[in-house]
Amino acid sequence: DKGGWSSFMAKEVSEEPEAVAKTVLGRISGDDIVIPELEGMDELFSGIDRVIVLACGTAYYAGLVGKYAIEKWARIPVDVELAHEFRYRDPIVDAKTLVVSISQSGETMDTLMAVKEASRLGARTLSICNTQGSTIPRESDAVVYTHAGPEVAVASTKAFVAQITALYLLALHVGRIRGSLAPEVGAEAVEQLESLPEKIQWILDNEQERTEQLARWMADTRSVLFLGRHVGYPIALEGALKLKEISYIHAEGFAAGELKHGPIALIEPGQPVFVVVPSPRGSATMHAKVVSNIEEIRARGARVIAIAEQGDSAVLPHADEVLRIPLAAPLFEPLLAVVPLHIYAMGLATAKGLDVDQPRNLAKSVTVE
Ligand code: M6R
Repeated sequence: DKGGWSSFMAKEVSEEPEAVAKTVLGRISGDDIVIPELEGMDELFSGIDRVIVLACGTAYYAGLVGKYAIEKWARIPVDVELAHEFRYRDPIVDAKTLVVSISQSGETMDTLMAVKEASRLGARTLSICNTQGSTIPRESDAVVYTHAGPEVAVASTKAFVAQITALYLLALHVGRIRGSLAPEVGAEAVEQLESLPEKIQWILDNEQERTEQLARWMADTRSVLFLGRHVGYPIALEGALKLKEISYIHAEGFAAGELKHGPIALIEPGQPVFVVVPSPRGSATMHAKVVSNIEEIRARGARVIAIAEQGDSAVLPHADEVLRIPLAAPLFEPLLAVVPLHIYAMGLATAKGLDVDQPRNLAKSVTVE
């Protein structure tokens, strides 16, 4: 039931605040993150020396974001790999490896087969999944459910923000157990997590209309590029995937620092480029570098749409459009910056008269390899 919305995707984007809130619910204890499902696993988390995250598509991008948090808070090296690539390369895995799989459906065959292979090789396995009782959690040693609610549209939206949330909860939980997380850092993260839903809601209330209008203006666009740096990089990849998937427009995401190593050659007058701008409060250097990337592509005629935090006036003179997101600590920005990109992809597909819930050639869950 679409509950009065024009599509399941529209409904599910509107549920992004709730998806985060429900995933956090019951997992905060005072200033700490405590995941009840992981009780009794402290020894395992203390004993591992690496994490491999396996997933496909949007879930893989959530994994790329999660790497930053796990390395920062739990101080364990993390590799993130496409599940279908992992399986066929004779991976080096042992009992000190924790394999974290991420899947909305819990039925993605590529991910399932990779998890099975990891188990066979002796790894411990933990699944982050949105579907109770599905196959991947059943094949795993442990599961942390995302509570995004059922996702019907083929394009994954609310599950993505819930997956990042769950990965952050996991990183904080494991960081506390391993003693690598300073209590004040944990307390700040808890505060950030708790304030996310209202910040996402702010974007829906204040920037949705403008983003949709922008999408309508761009209905004839043939190609859109997305740039991001650090945690903004996987968001650029997600923005591009969502656009390809439902609007059939060529789109590519790049790491902003990679521009001059090739992709800048693509920039010609009129080329639309979304740029995820990191907060200057997080890293002034990174912010300055992204602003200078904007200047470089603008000088070559790109049409720049910046996604930047409120009050970041440095981007104003350089961007054609600025979509605002509320202030958040740097690691939490991806959960905000992705929202306008979901709205944009949906707006563009709608403007082209396409079925946003059922894009051509795609299935909601990919149960074949
Ligand atoms: O159910 P899963 O999370 O395992 O699905 C993984 C991908 O197939 C999925 O995220 C796909 O990329 C989406 N259609 C993207 O919007």
